[in-house]
Amino acid sequence: MAIPLLPFRILVFVLSCMPFALLVLDIVTGSLGPDPGQTVTEALGLSALQLMIATLFITPLARWTHWSGWIKVRRMLGLFAFFYASLHLMAFLQFILGWGDLWATFTKRPYIIFGSLAFLLLIPLAATSTKAMMRRLGRQWKPLHRLVYPAVALVWLHFLFQARSDITEMVVYGLVVAFLLGVRGYWFGWRSLVPLRIPKRA
Ligand code: HEM
Repeated sequence: MAIPLLPFRILVFVLSCMPFALLVLDIVTGSLGPDPGQTVTEALGLSALQLMIATLFITPLARWTHWSGWIKVRRMLGLFAFFYASLHLMAFLQFILGWGDLWATFTKRPYIIFGSLAFLLLIPLAATSTKAMMRRLGRQWKPLHRLVYPAVALVWLHFLFQARSDITEMVVYGLVVAFLLGVRGYWFGWRSLVPLRIPKRA
């Protein structure tokens, strides 16, 4: 498949910016509904999860289409996921619970504990996403970046535990995440899902 890389990268960049741009538009036009803080927080959280899922789709897409161009946008997607997750966290503190007693805030409810743990796992991934860090970490880079698997599972639990009545959406996201982890385990072995495990040298 001969798709030129630069326009593809630009397209992925523009698509990743869209949720943010649409949110800004809703803020400017005052179309956020009766609880703007809640709407903003939820929209940012959902975008973060969707971008994490998009990141996990890269390897299967590259395999199915035999096109390595997908791999070239994985870091961008991962960083956008982190960007939306950070804004989601800030929106939560700013609009919902305040910046007061942070320890009490983050240990309050199970869904917040799951979200906080997921966010903590995303920090080293974002911090080590540069080429220089890849070089510095060498063989340790891949096992470290497998933290994305427990992170996405924690995000899903975070999503599930804050559900009020209808859990259809959570079930659909759960099936997609399970499918992606399953495909990976099937192709590369279940051990490839275990983070921080450095393979022995042959
Ligand atoms: C310290 C970390 C986090 C906190 C405090 C937090 C807080 C929240 C809150 C307050 C909500 C709205 C719950 C409600 O509707 O009442 C929410 C929803 C959500 N969060 Fe988080 N979150 C955190 C981390 C994350 C991360 C890391 C992700 C994804 C990468 C994420 C994804 C989501 C999703 C998908 C929703 C559901 C949005 C919807 O209902 O459409 N959260 N979170």
